[in-house]
Amino acid sequence: MLLSVISTLSALLLGAQARPQSYAVWAADSAIARGQGNGLTSGGATTVSYEHGEFQWGLRLLYDITGNQSYYDYILAGANRIVDSSGTIIGADYSLSAYSQDPVRTGPTFAYLYEKTGAAKWKTAMDTFHTQLMGQPRTAEGQFWHKLRYFNQGWLDGIYMGEIFYATYTNKFQPTNQTAYADIEHQFELMFSNTLQEEGAANYTGLLYHGYDYSHTAVWASADRGHSPEIWDRAMGWYMMALVDIIELWPGDTSVFLGLLRTLAPRVIDAADPESGVWWLVMTQPGRKGNYFESSGAVMFVYSILKGVRLGFLDDSDGSLVKGATKAYAYIVDNWVVENSDGTMNWLNTVSVGSLDGNGTFEYYISVNTDVNDLKGLAAFLLASIEYEKL
Ligand SMILES: *[C@@H]1O[C@H](CO)[C@@H](O)[C@H](O)[C@H]1NC(C)=O
Ligand SMILES: *[C@@H]1O[C@H](CO)[C@@H](O)[C@H](O)[C@H]1NC(C)=O
Ligand SMILES: *[C@@H]1O[C@H](CO)[C@@H](O)[C@H](O)[C@H]1NC(C)=O
Ligand SMILES: *[C@@H]1O[C@H](CO)[C@@H](O)[C@H](O)[C@H]1NC(C)=O
Repeated sequence: MLLSVISTLSALLLGAQARPQSYAVWAADSAIARGQGNGLTSGGATTVSYEHGEFQWGLRLLYDITGNQSYYDYILAGANRIVDSSGTIIGADYSLSAYSQDPVRTGPTFAYLYEKTGAAKWKTAMDTFHTQLMGQPRTAEGQFWHKLRYFNQGWLDGIYMGEIFYATYTNKFQPTNQTAYADIEHQFELMFSNTLQEEGAANYTGLLYHGYDYSHTAVWASADRGHSPEIWDRAMGWYMMALVDIIELWPGDTSVFLGLLRTLAPRVIDAADPESGVWWLVMTQPGRKGNYFESSGAVMFVYSILKGVRLGFLDDSDGSLVKGATKAYAYIVDNWVVENSDGTMNWLNTVSVGSLDGNGTFEYYISVNTDVNDLKGLAAFLLASIEYEKL
């Protein structure tokens, strides 16, 4: 009794010792201790949430690395909250007819659980998302609209939300469907060509604007090409993560995706702030008053670049990509990870949202608040840390 009191006390006093060696483990265990990413909102309602899908993707990788069953159980419990025993998606905020790509990001979790358990319910739930995508409204060129209510709009975010699931589903159930594969590839290309910042633009980065309106009617749409005015770090981060993830799971010729990744990765590194090594929230306006270094985009870039190099998708013979990513990672852990007295960590400085629902201006992006422990950033920190720890 006395001994256990002493050991509990010393564990409390030596809180630092309770901290895992691995930032990936620390990030995951801290989010789990707070009940994040478990299929419920903080208010307790069920939610079919892309950030839960993103976190579950990281937990799956961490389960493979550590063998800690708790990670698998947490994924399963979270997904069971939003899919009933018959396979109906019961998350309170899901509506197929809204044609939002965001909830579809939980689809890869269903695919994973289908593989692991063989339970038909996960196939049924995947079929619902696939049915949605097959009816998803599109631009005349074939790009999925981000949501039904965003008329003719493609957003970079949607590539991460919809296409990874689309490819996963096709691999599993329609592996000879060349139409589907060509469609997915085309959507990456359309997004790239319609949002690419052209040479000669002020503050040229060669990266991608947040989105475009094919009909050029949105208040933010440029008159010439319909793109939004600013390059937002997290949107660019979603697109980069989607590229490395799709190449990894693509069954055929990956040259189109490799071409996009090899074009963008060095530009991402070049766009980093030279001193800190991380990136501005609004990448098109470096150093402007009100702009700041944002954490979710940074970890998405680190993940994408380190994974791209590790798997040989990116050639880093001069070392500049890994050098840039590891410099950023050092800033990230020094500035955005803080230890709590209970041994968990907090994650700082992730902007809560960035949407093209409003006017898309610099003033808009910088007016949005940042959150502590925002899962969109924290889940990407888990992913970036998994890659960093593999170096
Ligand atoms: C396994 O993960 C759980 C959930 O995060 C954590 O509480 C536990 O300490 C981990 N177990 C080991 C042996 O690392
Ligand atoms: C192949 O994919 C396309 C586009 O996703 C779809 O419309 C079509 O029904 C699929 N064909 C088969 C045989 O599954
Ligand atoms: C270029 O960057 C500067 C510095 O952030 C900013 O003040 C200016 O508005 C930017 N120009 C454009 C066209 O975005
Ligand atoms: C755009 O929206 C932001 C708030 O979201 C506002 O501060 C700004 O004044 C708006 N700009 C224009 C040009 O309407």
